[in-house]
Amino acid sequence: MSKLTFPETFLWGAATSSYQIEGAWQEDGRGESIWDRFAHTPGNISDGSNGDVACDHYHRWRDDVALLKQLGVHAYRFSIAWPRILPTGRGAINQKGLDFYSRLVDELLKNDIQPVATLYHWDLPQTLHDQGGWPVRATAEAFVEYIDIVSRHLGDRVKYWMTHNEPWCASFLSYQIGEHAPGWKDWPAAIAASHHLLLSHGWAVPVLRRNSPGAEVGIVLNPSPGYPASPSSYDLDAYRQHDGYMNRWFLDPLYGRQYPADMLADYTKAGFLPPTGPAWLHDGDLEAIAVPTDFLGVNYYTREVARSSAIPEDQNAPRTVIRAPREEWTEMNWEVYPNGLYDLLMRITTDYRVPKLYITENGASYSDGPDEHGRIHDIRRLRYVHAHLAASHRAIANGVPLAGYFIWSLMDNFEWAHGYSQRFGITWVDYETQQRLLKDSALWYQQTIADNAVDAI
Ligand code: GCO
Repeated sequence: MSKLTFPETFLWGAATSSYQIEGAWQEDGRGESIWDRFAHTPGNISDGSNGDVACDHYHRWRDDVALLKQLGVHAYRFSIAWPRILPTGRGAINQKGLDFYSRLVDELLKNDIQPVATLYHWDLPQTLHDQGGWPVRATAEAFVEYIDIVSRHLGDRVKYWMTHNEPWCASFLSYQIGEHAPGWKDWPAAIAASHHLLLSHGWAVPVLRRNSPGAEVGIVLNPSPGYPASPSSYDLDAYRQHDGYMNRWFLDPLYGRQYPADMLADYTKAGFLPPTGPAWLHDGDLEAIAVPTDFLGVNYYTREVARSSAIPEDQNAPRTVIRAPREEWTEMNWEVYPNGLYDLLMRITTDYRVPKLYITENGASYSDGPDEHGRIHDIRRLRYVHAHLAASHRAIANGVPLAGYFIWSLMDNFEWAHGYSQRFGITWVDYETQQRLLKDSALWYQQTIADNAVDAI
């Protein structure tokens, strides 16, 4: 069978995030975050759980680094919990929080694993939320103070920094749809939040460069490839909106093109922005946001088909999009569509001339558990990852500057509003005993890293 070999310097990694794995929510001076508050509020998490203990990584980090070592990954993408460093968001530093990440970084380096630090994966200190949260500009200022502290302490050893993870989720999913903390349903607040997240990224980049010379600095988005359900003008407009909301709203300003005019017009028409223009946009903001970065991180799971709900009967062109059969949807009800990753990488490369890309998350939720021999035959996850790596390889062959791949996730963990009901790990976590067991997908991934190649599909 022929092999698809990746570039020699390709960075193979695994990813997690602080609230999803650490637990120890009240230990060593950690402050409360909006996710603690949200998960502790009945009705927000489908299985009634929370991240109080999660994977107990705060105590088991040494074993988890050993697990990474066993897999043979070159890099580990984790996130830093702001409320461990600054329990109330600003001001007094909690040294124990810094020490935790410092030890983790040292242990990774000792094992030849590059630490890849995400600075914000959604656990905003609750105090900052009480003062207005992301919809207010002061939160962006607080973010930069926090980044300065973290990078002054870890910048000598961490050589990959990611300012934000998925600002779409931290703004729209959190303040407009209300599925994530803090659970608001307020369009104007969500739009302002998106701006302050991007602005804080722009402000943070020069600070990271100063405190961590030679490091690669970037941001992680969850762009979504959309496909119109038909060529009718209605579905094409639904596609435009989807693309504007999920993709262009973030990519355009990051790459120097300002906020998309069609989306500003839509939001103004809907009454989410005043006709006089957004009050949150100050002079210099767009320049700050467009600061050059070294790479873009892309999280990819599935695609979306854009279908207008306003389509009149007589204008209904055939809607012929063929989606994967139901059995090829993951347990998140996400369609398995590897070609979407290819399309997305090609589009970003062509439209935005991004110098370097990493797939910072890709993976699948399937609940397959241990058999009587303790083996976990998660063949569907293995196939999912294989197909997405093949699509990535094809993108590289067609000129995409893709430099690495981080599987989501190193281990099963707290899947936000789904609690522990969704398992994305290549490692099984028994939440009663906290035992970790490598699934078949992990053994396959280990071999893939060793070969730097996958079988052609
Ligand atoms: C996200 C986050 C991860 C999720 C993963 C699966 O993309 O939502 O970065 O924290 O757990 O994507 O949904």
